[in-house]
Amino acid sequence: MVDVCVLGLGTLGRATAALLARAGLRVHGVDTDAERIRGLAERKDVQLEPGLSDLLAVALQAGLEVGTTPVSAEAYIVAVPTPLDRDRAPDVAAVWSAVESLREVAPRGALVVIESTCPVGTAQAIAATTPGLLVATCPERALPGDLLGELTRNDRLIGGVTVDAAEAAAALYRRFVDGALHLTDARTAELAKLVENASRAVQVSFANEVALIADSYGVDPWVLRALVNRHPRVDILRPGPGIGGHCLPVDPWFLVCDRPQQTGLIAAAARVDEARREAVVERVCALAEHREGPIACLGLTYKPDVADVRESAALDIVRRLLERLGERIRVADPYAPPLAGVDTVSTDEAVGDAALVVVLVAHRAFRGLVIEAEVLDVAGVFA
Ligand SMILES: NC(=O)c1ccc[n+]([C@@H]2O[C@H](COP(=O)([O-])OP(=O)(O)OC[C@H]3O[C@@H](n4cnc5c(N)ncnc54)[C@H](O)[C@@H]3O)[C@@H](O)[C@H]2O)c1
Repeated sequence: MVDVCVLGLGTLGRATAALLARAGLRVHGVDTDAERIRGLAERKDVQLEPGLSDLLAVALQAGLEVGTTPVSAEAYIVAVPTPLDRDRAPDVAAVWSAVESLREVAPRGALVVIESTCPVGTAQAIAATTPGLLVATCPERALPGDLLGELTRNDRLIGGVTVDAAEAAAALYRRFVDGALHLTDARTAELAKLVENASRAVQVSFANEVALIADSYGVDPWVLRALVNRHPRVDILRPGPGIGGHCLPVDPWFLVCDRPQQTGLIAAAARVDEARREAVVERVCALAEHREGPIACLGLTYKPDVADVRESAALDIVRRLLERLGERIRVADPYAPPLAGVDTVSTDEAVGDAALVVVLVAHRAFRGLVIEAEVLDVAGVFA
């Protein structure tokens, strides 16, 4: 029997499995994607997170095993995807499928920790179908680009369906988390995770709405923000092309779907997000109409200085622009991975003889660029 079996070896699961193995635990990682397992076992999996390749090498050396089926373990960590379905409702099928698979091998008294972001009540529902197992939820707050640092440094919420479950989960996480562990019940922990991301989504949308308002008045949104933030109790976030990443555009909908009567503001934030994307596309098309020549779009990722394009607003905008303006669009992003249907060139090539440069992501690499053409600085690189 191993100490921990981690189900789901994606962004979160493989880092968690590696950290546990480095802490000296016997860890078995499971993924239903055989290709991913092969890549990990042969150390060929591409790791975009700083430090993760080295950590995985250490963990595999230390005995981290990987495979496609769960084994008997003292504890299980479930880190499988929980996306939205077509109706923007949470799809937790992978969580249930993972629980189903571990139920067949888990010994009585084993701990099951759900790390996947889930609707409120999921851990309780799982506990009801897994008598004899301790069920807890430990939602993750990690930031892509500094995943390992955040996984070890950040405070964690540990929500137990029972007090015993919370304490068992805390004992496990203490093995690799330096941040404080806050024990609570499972429903509170699940709701806290959703509220954290809803809060950030609403604040990003507010910043983007202010930029929309400023643009409509012909006022520079960056100057406006700088002046407004001189108020001692106002701190508007930086506007951008829209909400991206795989958490913020998704998680708030878990609440909207479950509590439509109480989530007017959160639902409105999502509508503002669409308005912002569309406004950027319309603005570029309007500017393009009065110019001849290529239009450079700088940035495809969902935020600066990472290679992550999941739910990226910049990528969405570029795709819409490619549909509208076709070959006039030239795209550059020094970080983004190759993407179907979006050919990229170097930044210099994109900017070279461009008639208009649209900055969609505030990558550090774009700072200091000398651009002769007109610039639409959506991300505020030059602000
Ligand atoms: N990545 C983050 O930084 C982050 C932060 C906070 C919360 N979360 C949440 O954690 C969960 C996992 O996120 P992720 O980014 O690691 O996802 P991911 O898509 O990168 O990886 C999930 C992995 O789970 C595997 N999988 C699917 N069904 C499975 C099953 N039944 N058994 C075993 N493996 C299975 C998939 O093949 C995939 O490799 C999601 O709920 C996400 O919302 C992620």
